[in-house]
Amino acid sequence: MKTSPVVRPLLLIVLCAAVASRAAEAPAELKLDALPKIDATQFVGAEACAKCHASHFDGWKSTLHSKMVQRPIADGPGKTILGDFSIPSTNHPALKDVKGVIGSRWKQRYLVEENGEEVVFNGQWSVQEKKWQPYTAKSDWWWDHHKDWKQRSNFKLCAGCHSTGLDTQAEKWQELNISCESCHGAGRKHSATSRLEDIVNPARITRDRSMDVCLYCHQAGRPHGAQTEYAWAVGYQPGDDLAKYWKGFEPDGKVTPEFWQNGTAHKNRVQGNTFVQSVMNDAHLQCSNCHDSHSGRHTAMTIKSARDNALCLTCHAPGQKQHLKEKTLTEHTHHAATSTGSRCIECHMAKTGENSVAAESRNHTFDFISPSTTIKKGNPNSCNLCHKDQTPEWSLALVKKWYPQLNVALPADGSIRTAQAADR
Ligand code: HEC
Ligand code: HEC
Ligand code: HEC
Ligand code: HEC
Ligand code: HEC
Ligand code: HEC
Ligand code: HEC
Ligand code: HEC
Repeated sequence: MKTSPVVRPLLLIVLCAAVASRAAEAPAELKLDALPKIDATQFVGAEACAKCHASHFDGWKSTLHSKMVQRPIADGPGKTILGDFSIPSTNHPALKDVKGVIGSRWKQRYLVEENGEEVVFNGQWSVQEKKWQPYTAKSDWWWDHHKDWKQRSNFKLCAGCHSTGLDTQAEKWQELNISCESCHGAGRKHSATSRLEDIVNPARITRDRSMDVCLYCHQAGRPHGAQTEYAWAVGYQPGDDLAKYWKGFEPDGKVTPEFWQNGTAHKNRVQGNTFVQSVMNDAHLQCSNCHDSHSGRHTAMTIKSARDNALCLTCHAPGQKQHLKEKTLTEHTHHAATSTGSRCIECHMAKTGENSVAAESRNHTFDFISPSTTIKKGNPNSCNLCHKDQTPEWSLALVKKWYPQLNVALPADGSIRTAQAADR
């Protein structure tokens, strides 16, 4: 780059400032002999917030964040155990040994005690299939070091993303579930003063720091450094720069546990990793533009329903700045307006990711995934996830006709299919 003598000193100042700010946020290697500490006495719990924020409390109670980890109740109205323990299987522990249950929407895993420690059993219940499955954890980066499930500590490998206010010294959490203070930071001071400056409001910090509040749990990755004991962002608190504590995984053009070769979701819990690749991320939107942390009214806590397109049409309807180029929905989707084939999310958030079974988790790159990439590399595409009885070649021919603006040329090297089943 050519710069004039006048511009150069200015550039130097800018560069120095950039270097300085980066140095201040240098990644912190997680060291087992020097784990970051929290002041557990500063957490008050959701019930305390509820005294002044009743509607936020009620809304949050209706979300799955408040029900991630539950104590085992096998029968009755408060039943939390979904798995059918009457089916004989090596994939579940004895019912009497279950100390806790994790999850309820897609799959459920079970906490048992081994040598005085709470660990995760190596089997799971698939809600979709209504059957027991092995849970090998083979696709997790830490698997090599925890091949024996009896060595899989709930506190160290899971709880940082399922519970609130983790104290690594005492190996305890303040609340079993993902509660107010997971996203707003410790709130004792604010609860006493009611002052805005004593609490983190994600809407009042920069957009990147605000996104970090979701990404510290919703972005697959690992702490910096070589340790393999802790699998969550130890030391991070809402408002912090997540990059200091956490290295999010990125796509590298190959099929990995997290991504298909084209960077789309290969599993659950990669919303952050995929959203950052999207046009809407570039346009500075964030998770909370579509998700309401204090309402479980719609599927997946969306602000409006995505099932009737209301959510997407908030910004993409005729008259809006981001309106679709076509005048009618059918012109855009080539399906009847009432067809599921006209639902924005089915083409733009195709279920490319495996959760308890393949094709359960929605991709958050928001790209239409062309059948040409299936022919080339074997990843799922937006058409054939519905049209299972048709070939990608069938879809591609239609896509070429319907969306001529898309570059959907077949690869010169012919059709190689390398579909790989995700390892759960
Ligand atoms: C004694 C009552 C009281 C308690 C307890 C309380 N708050 Fe508040 N909170 C308030 C009031 C009043 C405001 C509005 C202050 C204002 O607008 O100046 C507020 C504002 C907020 C805001 C918005 C700040 C902003 O930037 O607009 C958040 C977030 C918040 N509270 C979260 C919490 C959480 C989380 C807890 C529990 C840890 C909690 N509050 C406990 C009274 C309380
Ligand atoms: C880095 C954060 C993080 C870690 C570590 C983590 N999880 Fe999760 N987990 C999540 C998030 C976020 C979701 C929900 C998002 C999704 O499923 O796409 C989730 C979902 C789940 C679900 C499905 C919930 C449902 O309702 O179906 C289960 C079960 C689960 N996790 C178990 C575990 C176990 C067991 C461990 C430890 C071995 C673990 N997780 C470690 C963040 C984490
Ligand atoms: C999963 C993260 C998360 C959890 C859990 C959560 N909040 Fe929030 N909260 C947010 C975000 C994000 C905002 C910013 C609002 C926005 O941009 O939509 C917010 C905003 C608020 C506000 C400011 C007013 C508003 O609605 O914008 C209050 C008050 C609040 N939360 C209270 C609570 C209380 C009380 C709880 C627990 C009962 C709670 N929150 C649980 C993420 C969370
Ligand atoms: C402390 C970790 C943590 C934080 C912080 C967090 N989440 Fe979650 N989130 C989870 C886990 C774990 C689940 C799975 C809950 C379950 O299935 O029971 C989940 C589930 C969800 C779901 C799916 C709910 C459903 O009904 O299927 C959405 C949407 C979501 N989170 C959005 C957000 C957003 C937006 C933020 C930031 C404002 C956020 N989360 C912050 C851990 C977290
Ligand atoms: C809060 C407003 C808002 C909501 C809600 C919203 N979008 Fe967007 N969307 C935008 C903006 C802004 C852009 C960026 C447009 C640009 O920069 O050209 C965008 C871009 C996109 C693009 C990329 C367009 C391109 O030029 O490549 C797609 C696809 C998209 N949105 C789909 C969706 C879907 C599907 C939903 C519903 C799940 C949705 N959007 C909800 C505001 C929104
Ligand atoms: C049948 C599949 C399908 C459905 C359903 C669908 N789209 Fe698209 N959409 C496409 C394709 C294909 C493209 C062109 C891809 C590209 O340009 O990258 C596209 C392009 C877009 C774009 C960018 C270009 C433009 O036309 O402005 C936006 C924004 C968008 N869609 C939003 C939506 C919204 C909002 C909905 C629901 C109202 C929706 N789409 C429903 C397939 C679909
Ligand atoms: C443009 C809107 C939009 C944005 C931005 C967005 N999501 Fe979503 N998200 C959705 C929709 C729509 C669904 C599916 C709702 C449904 O099934 O009805 C969804 C589903 C989810 C789920 C449930 C799992 C699944 O596979 O269905 C989680 C968890 C989630 N989102 C987290 C996030 C997080 C974290 C971010 C930010 C990194 C984010 N989302 C950004 C629209 C959005
Ligand atoms: C959410 C599921 C869904 C998605 C995604 C979807 N379709 Fe459809 N499609 C349907 C349904 C359901 C019908 C039946 C007629 C109707 O309801 O419109 C249909 C009808 C059709 C038809 C006419 C009837 C037939 O089977 O010959 C064609 C052609 C078609 N789709 C092609 C596509 C292509 C190409 C794509 C990708 C761009 C696509 N569809 C994406 C659900 C879907």
